[in-house]
Amino acid sequence: MILKAEQPIGIFDSGAGGLTVAAAVKNILPSEQLIYFGDTAHLPYGDKSTELIQFYSQKISDFLLEKNCKVILIACNTASAAAYDTVKEHVGDRALVVNVIDPTAEYVSQNDLLKKIGVIGTKGTVNSGTYTRKIAQYSPTKQVVALATPLLVPMIEEGYIYDDISNAVIRSYLSHNDLNNIDALILGCTHYPIIKNQIRKFYNFKTEIIDSSDIVAKKLKNLLSENNLLNLGTKNPHEFFVSDYTDFFKTLAEMFFDMRINLQKAEI
Ligand code: DGL
Repeated sequence: MILKAEQPIGIFDSGAGGLTVAAAVKNILPSEQLIYFGDTAHLPYGDKSTELIQFYSQKISDFLLEKNCKVILIACNTASAAAYDTVKEHVGDRALVVNVIDPTAEYVSQNDLLKKIGVIGTKGTVNSGTYTRKIAQYSPTKQVVALATPLLVPMIEEGYIYDDISNAVIRSYLSHNDLNNIDALILGCTHYPIIKNQIRKFYNFKTEIIDSSDIVAKKLKNLLSENNLLNLGTKNPHEFFVSDYTDFFKTLAEMFFDMRINLQKAEI
């Protein structure tokens, strides 16, 4: 199938976390129209089975294909770990498919100063071993320690972002022995950049905190450019869909995009 530059970019996540990636894409690719889908009815993905996440991810991909997207960006680490291969196969040549784990694994592998790398993510992402495996593919000598931090997504989606509760939860997780003496910490969940400042503060701003949103956005720009798919004309307005309406989603989307958002509900 021949893709065209003026087609929109489809982005999805289980909820509002993928907005961190969408915002980075909007900043680096301001001429592109974005269509975002947050699967808030099925959130969190982190404790769901691989099969179920593959099923939801395919349904959302179909929705984004119906919206004529040239790219499907899986802005969720859990879905990237569980469903990237199945989505890619399902979509075929109808759109380019991008995940958030490969570009991040590639990025840390290129930095020789990072010897011991910590990863925090959902149970699904950590138990899949995807980060450890992918970083080893690029750079077999690195030590990767991954810790599941399942309370963080519900905490963020409930709006506990900068207060005593969130600080206590963050401190408790990051004090885990496995994460001692790391050179960098990968935020292996697209919700976590929302609490990046508190995480930085925990490390007294001395440990590199790797937020994949900018890394993924740059990767996407290169991919579009290589495929002659960068939109150079005018763009239609961004569109935002959720499978269940939440005030938090709308507030966060308006904050990240700095505009009023007409949040639409869509079944998948
Ligand atoms: N933002 C997702 C991720 O990157 C969400 C996790 C969830 O829904 O549990 O993994």
